[in-house]
Amino acid sequence: MGRIVFSIIFLFLISINPLFSQNLPLVPYPRKVATSDKYFEFNKNTVIVFSKGMEKEASYLKEEFKFRFGIEIKSLEETARVKSNFIHLYTKADSVQSKYRLEVNPQYIDICGSDAAGVFYGVQTLLQLIPFNKETKIQSVEIEDYPGFSWRGMHLDCSRHFFTVNEVKRYIDYLAMYKMNVFHWHLTDDQGWRIEIKKYPLLTKISSYRKETLIGRPSAKDEYDGKPYGGFYTQEQIKDIVRYASDRHITVVPEIEMPGHSMAVLAAYPNFSCKGGKFETATSWGVFEDVLCAGNDSVFKFLEGVMDEVCDLFPGKYIHIGGDECPKDRWHNCSKCQARMKSEGLKDEHELQSYFIQRIEKYINKKGKQIIGWDEILEGGLAPNATVMSWRGEQGGVEAAKQKHFVVMTPGHPCYLDHYQYKDVENEPLAIGGYNPLEDVYAYNPVPKELSQEDAKYIYGAQGNVWTEYIPTFKQVEYMALPRMAALAEVLWTYDPNRDYASFIQRLKIQTQILDKLGVNYCNRFKN
Ligand code: ACM
Ligand code: ZN
Repeated sequence: MGRIVFSIIFLFLISINPLFSQNLPLVPYPRKVATSDKYFEFNKNTVIVFSKGMEKEASYLKEEFKFRFGIEIKSLEETARVKSNFIHLYTKADSVQSKYRLEVNPQYIDICGSDAAGVFYGVQTLLQLIPFNKETKIQSVEIEDYPGFSWRGMHLDCSRHFFTVNEVKRYIDYLAMYKMNVFHWHLTDDQGWRIEIKKYPLLTKISSYRKETLIGRPSAKDEYDGKPYGGFYTQEQIKDIVRYASDRHITVVPEIEMPGHSMAVLAAYPNFSCKGGKFETATSWGVFEDVLCAGNDSVFKFLEGVMDEVCDLFPGKYIHIGGDECPKDRWHNCSKCQARMKSEGLKDEHELQSYFIQRIEKYINKKGKQIIGWDEILEGGLAPNATVMSWRGEQGGVEAAKQKHFVVMTPGHPCYLDHYQYKDVENEPLAIGGYNPLEDVYAYNPVPKELSQEDAKYIYGAQGNVWTEYIPTFKQVEYMALPRMAALAEVLWTYDPNRDYASFIQRLKIQTQILDKLGVNYCNRFKN
């Protein structure tokens, strides 16, 4: 007995640093791991026993067993009668959120979370431990684990290209697999409005369609495909996706772009522009001069109507209001915008943008929600309660944190996953440009060194962005997002200053067998 206790402690000690326990194919790697050479063997008589409130986690695990092994295992609410061959899911209060302890021993598997999210993450770790090769044995382990950052995000642009409900759900599945917890859903942009708003049916009738799409990159001789392109999510579909994500402990943050990136809105409502006239949903990429007029009160009425429905559809705390890349020329030459600047005492168009965002923030705050926006919302003065998403490098995030505003880091390098992942671009699908190899994503540190310890607390975490101008299919989304999402997941979850790329690659090679089984088109060049 004494020897067993000693060897468990010994194993625990030698494997306390992830660098020393590379034998488990886990991504992201847990904080504490101890293994032994015993095994739990599951079969059709294995039972899931769950405590009250863990029904969803239990049914998720049950479904995964069915899918992976064709075994229909039973699940029952907690009872003392089951003595062995069970997987126990339960919670025990702890000051650390989303924490779990996973124990596998020859008699049973125990997953104890500090909350339901913790139990879910324990389930994910267990699933990564179960190989797909018809093996029914799981090595005995003791794992203790919790996340390093509270915002572990992935973004998907469904405006430039549209992805079906099932594809969006698959994307959410990949987030869940890697313990990511925020899905930033980019729903509106110049090239298409993708969310049904019942009050404004023209948004789905007109703004969700474009007449054709640019082929390749913009050039002196632009060529278009001549094919109408469109699509949107009904409110019922949105609720379904939000529920699906919530079952996986993922919050959906919808993005409704303003005041720029609004050509699709102007196609339906030209009077919301500064100049009026005729507009069409954009058919090529870039930044467009025509934006929502900041001097026109009906623009704000419209946005408030949109926000009424958006806030009802998304139960999370955050609404992303865009705020990026809004050229100011139209405002500069618009009598209504200039009159607004005068009446509000605003000294330039940057302050007018700040007025725009603050006015929307007030409305959203009244509905009990918070805004998050791209780092341009710093220009002209940050809205009082805004969270900043730093994309033009890290400077915006640093500035916001110093102003005691929360920050999500998503700098172009290395967090834009629409950028190339290999230098030999002729062997890669056409991408927007850039170079963000897997290794750079893995090396990322979301907390800039120049921040004091106090200000560093404002860094919520980071996010990978998948813009889809050059990503027309979901297969290509998979290729761009994976495995770089897995690297970012390990940065954000494990947050180990001694992280080891070689160990990550070794584990990833085994771990991607699951992606192979699922038929995911991930980029497998890291195996070469
Ligand atoms: C952005 O990439 N325009 C936020
Ligand atoms: Zn105007």
